[in-house]
Amino acid sequence: MTRSIVRWCFASSVVALSVAACGPTEPPPPMDSGVVTDTSVGTDTGPAPDSTAPPSDGGTLPTIAAPLFVRAITYNNMMVPLGTVQAVTDNAGTTAFFGSLGMRLLRAGALFASNAEITMWRSAATVPAVVGTGTWTIAVDAMGRVHRVRPDNLLEIVGDRYGLTGMSVRWVAHGGMNFVGFASETHLSISDGMNIRRVMEGPFTAFGASNNLFAGVSPDRIKVLDAATGRLRTWNLPGATAVAIDAMGKVIASAGPVLWAEAADGTLEGVFRAPAPITAMVRSGPRVWFVSGRELGTYATGRVSMTTGTMLDANSTLSPASMDEVWVSSAMAPRRYAADTGTQTPEAIWRATMQSIYASSCADCHFPGMGGQAPDLSTYMGWDANRMKIRNSVVLMMAPVMPPRGMFTMEQRNAVDAWLMMR
Ligand code: HEC
Repeated sequence: MTRSIVRWCFASSVVALSVAACGPTEPPPPMDSGVVTDTSVGTDTGPAPDSTAPPSDGGTLPTIAAPLFVRAITYNNMMVPLGTVQAVTDNAGTTAFFGSLGMRLLRAGALFASNAEITMWRSAATVPAVVGTGTWTIAVDAMGRVHRVRPDNLLEIVGDRYGLTGMSVRWVAHGGMNFVGFASETHLSISDGMNIRRVMEGPFTAFGASNNLFAGVSPDRIKVLDAATGRLRTWNLPGATAVAIDAMGKVIASAGPVLWAEAADGTLEGVFRAPAPITAMVRSGPRVWFVSGRELGTYATGRVSMTTGTMLDANSTLSPASMDEVWVSSAMAPRRYAADTGTQTPEAIWRATMQSIYASSCADCHFPGMGGQAPDLSTYMGWDANRMKIRNSVVLMMAPVMPPRGMFTMEQRNAVDAWLMMR
């Protein structure tokens, strides 16, 4: 019964996963969001008004995402060493990498300029120029100083131009229009190119910005400031880890493995339980990308999609890339991914969703040839030809229940169910 409810929610695509749509099995929302105390415009007036009970997702959220296909994009044709990249940003046709080898600019896959002065960085962004027109590539070094890359590719400290004197910046982002956010561990300030305003009090551990909205993750709390109106909103979200503003200007956040999305009424609703904690999130173009374990996920128009077998490095972080793509940084070389939205063949979908289940839970017995148990399930063809039997044995757990022994979780059964329904 529960299973069919979960399936219905998934099938109808998760945005509308509200209490009304899915019955009383849904988690209570983390907090009434509209809690905005708007009295002092653009200023954080301290702790949010008291919250409702912390959210418990009751383990009933959908756990099956649509398959996400990604393509690794080649960006470094000349194999330029980049070191450990701590921050990266695209600006027109140039990508600026900031890392252990200093700043390196790549254009058309080749090294275009470099500067080894500073080798420890925190954040980078492409922002509207404060003087003149066009954009600046700016980056924050490990001491919290903000630099811009000048047209002659030298670095210039520009914190004073933004009025950041004395602030140790951790993170910078362009949030729309002329709004640039600078966050320290304790607060967030927003510049409109003319003035800087201190707008939110931390401590903060993660950030997101777009659509003129700046979001910060404080312990157990998500705070969002609308730079255009000065409206501040706060949601309680115990264990909050990451936040982003999606293409519709809605707040998307994570706590542990659960993905939360702002519903039409402004509350945060649980929409998905990922297989592993969600540790990073960023918006690029139409989708919010996230990292769960070693996989990439996306959230767009209410739909959660996840890769299978991407094998990201541990502690990967995300930065937006041009053309709706995403940068994945870690101690290893950065990777750049694009969502592959072309129609996938049924076989590619099977490979992305069922092949790992086959390998871990069926391959010992259902292999082709001598000694293999019929049916041969080592290929898409084998699964496609045995859909009814697989449904009975794996999903409905009717005799002979498969796999006959060993660990096989409800989530894995649900994944098989989702694959069977995909046709
Ligand atoms: C330990 C060995 C083993 C593993 C692992 C195993 N199976 Fe089986 N499977 C069997 C045996 C033995 C039979 C024949 C059982 C029977 O006919 O009573 C069988 C039969 C089947 C059948 C045919 C059922 C029918 O109605 O005739 C399907 C479908 C199937 N398995 C699917 C799977 C899938 C999918 C997995 C992995 C998720 C899996 N099996 C894992 C041993 C295994």
